[in-house]
Amino acid sequence: MKEEKLQELLDSLSMVEKIGQLVQVPGPVLEAQGQELGVRDALGISEEIIQNVGSTLNVVGADQIRRVQKAYLEKSRHKIPLLFMADIIYGFRTVFPIPLALGCTFDPELLKKLCVATSKESVAAGAQVTFSPMADLVRDARWGRCLESTGEDPYMNCRYAAAMVEGFQEGLQEEGAGKGMASCVKHFAAYGAPEGGRDYNTVDMSERRLRQEYLPSYKAGVDAGCEMIMTSFNTVDGIPSTGNKWLMDDVLRKEWGFEGVVITDYAAIAELMAHGVAEDGKEAARLAMEAGVDIDMCTDCYANNLEALIREGSIDETQLDQAVMRVLRLKNKLGLFEDPFRGADAVREKEEILTPKHRGLAREAAIKSMVLLENKEELLPLCREDFQGEKKIALIGPFADNRDALGMWAIHGDKDAVVTVKQAFLENIAPESLVCTEGCETMLAEDYTDLLAFYEQTGKAAWSTEKRKGEMERALALAAEADVAVLALGESELQGGEGGSRTKLTIPGDQLELLRRVRKCARKVVVLLFGGRPLILDEVKELADALLLVWYPGTEGGHAICDVLFGSREPEGRLSMSLPRSVGQMPLYYNAFSTGRPYDGKTPIRFFSRYTDCDNTPLYPYGYGLAYHKAAYGPVHLDSHTLDREGKIEVSVEIANESSRAGMETAQLYIQDMAGSVVRPVKELKGVCKVFLEAGEKKTVTFQITEDMLRFYGKRLRYESEPGKFRVTIAPDSSCQLQEEFNLV
Ligand code: BGC
Ligand code: BGC
Repeated sequence: MKEEKLQELLDSLSMVEKIGQLVQVPGPVLEAQGQELGVRDALGISEEIIQNVGSTLNVVGADQIRRVQKAYLEKSRHKIPLLFMADIIYGFRTVFPIPLALGCTFDPELLKKLCVATSKESVAAGAQVTFSPMADLVRDARWGRCLESTGEDPYMNCRYAAAMVEGFQEGLQEEGAGKGMASCVKHFAAYGAPEGGRDYNTVDMSERRLRQEYLPSYKAGVDAGCEMIMTSFNTVDGIPSTGNKWLMDDVLRKEWGFEGVVITDYAAIAELMAHGVAEDGKEAARLAMEAGVDIDMCTDCYANNLEALIREGSIDETQLDQAVMRVLRLKNKLGLFEDPFRGADAVREKEEILTPKHRGLAREAAIKSMVLLENKEELLPLCREDFQGEKKIALIGPFADNRDALGMWAIHGDKDAVVTVKQAFLENIAPESLVCTEGCETMLAEDYTDLLAFYEQTGKAAWSTEKRKGEMERALALAAEADVAVLALGESELQGGEGGSRTKLTIPGDQLELLRRVRKCARKVVVLLFGGRPLILDEVKELADALLLVWYPGTEGGHAICDVLFGSREPEGRLSMSLPRSVGQMPLYYNAFSTGRPYDGKTPIRFFSRYTDCDNTPLYPYGYGLAYHKAAYGPVHLDSHTLDREGKIEVSVEIANESSRAGMETAQLYIQDMAGSVVRPVKELKGVCKVFLEAGEKKTVTFQITEDMLRFYGKRLRYESEPGKFRVTIAPDSSCQLQEEFNLV
């Protein structure tokens, strides 16, 4: 449809019809997923608005979407199709590793491919908009939603956010409906920095830090052309994002030029009352509208108050019109006026989901995101041939043969399609070489009473004391008689994700005790660690011979784990988040400031910036990960020690594979600005290059440094570089020393 036609359409709408476009309702209100009239009543929106709502969420499946759209359009005067949005965060039916794991790939192009695949599956199933990527920077492992973030580094987060938007939206601009889906970048802004790591809690930071570290990844999503932005639940400088005009209008729309649709997070307009910035729903609606929020997700605030606000003149009707126009434009861009079903088709849906190609991608992504933390005496890889009847593996632990590999936000994922670790083992080794048992539960129901309802939904029941004891003994007996004990341990999927904040971050339940006891009786112990956030691994590090962090690896997790364990592939992941020694170190991140009393980590003197009972350093640093090959980095070389503003310098390093195995290195470029008008981080990642080295091969990796890479928000809050001295290095992880110096003139 042409823009003039859209304007005509807008002009022909009544006030109620316009307001409807700005209201999003849960699926059950539209009688998707069966008739749940309770939801409809609880929402408290008039029948008239419901007949005219603009969008719904998490209704998926070609047949269902066709049915809901058809029923809706039949009653609609102007035949403006409904928009179907969904949380399709890291895969649709085929589920990829969680974003925090994908962050460990250091491979934005791969993430783009995964999003193209995700969009193919989703579009065939009728979804039109995805609430992804989550571009929130994370530094605090207590926050359950770390799993949805690509990590702690602003530079990588920018690259990932842009790649994901491009992947989801690929084909969207092409003629003919039905390709690509609109991407909604969230949660704008700084949702990943709640005080104490407690979900939905206050976020308060300087504008400098906000702009320097937290905003860039959202901006990268906007620059990559995302069609939508979602507000966050938290406050930004005392004002909740959803009513924050500075954030939504001054920064997002005016500074960044964002022209797409702004949607709230779930029920966030009504939460303006709980926050205490609005006395009632009407005031909340006014604040959100003034801030420039277009769509109200699942509250009655816009539905029940916008008309009165406009009639009394508190809100200008042109503002309403602009918001409605943005929604109509998005529908038009998606081709919905030509085909309200956007090609959603049950046959195509079946063909597109869980294809060998997508499963292959899932396997590849899982291999590339697993981080090998320990490998004492090069225990890994295990030799497949040894386990064809001769030697024995005891595969033990709650994750040994369950399908809890998807993580909390894979709500549309096909759990039945998950390949378990045990299944994959049996594809690799002889049945008589494998013994397997659970050993213990993931978590003890008694520790998590608030999760009990969710737990019961999974159909599981808490173990009796007798069963606990019996299973533990059985596991120990199996471990004792095997050559290698492989323990599949981790955090329950229920413990992470939204509302999954925790203060204790050790492996839950009886699992640590299981590991301690297995250690005593087993010859060799490999730990496969599942989870969605950094856990405290000090004891595990000591007890395990090999420790492989597999995160929630997705549909093909089992296969990928065996590819790595038996050495068909190397584990390629490098940490996207620092792993702490103690929860007391939170927030923990590599790109911190020096302080006036930096601690050298050597002499424990009291009056330095340090803890008296714990090292400052992480247990494993950002960017870290072992491999099966062994590489050495030579000295860093600069082609010049002076950089002028229009010029560039080249920094290079020779990397030598000193082993007899080929492998992939993840070379990381770190820079430190030695003195600025404001304090600068001790180092910042400014580039990354994955290089494949044959056995014994040497390669030189070169990065270019230009002035724009050195900019930051200085004293006057302008984004600019400052002349002076910089240090630089290229290294395998962030614990490196900066080796060389140059001057920006
Ligand atoms: C979450 C969002 C999600 C939305 C819609 C909220 O609770 O914070 O990430 O997109 O629900 O399901
Ligand atoms: C302390 C101050 C003290 C000063 C002089 C500093 O180390 O931080 O509180 O007044 O020494 O003794």
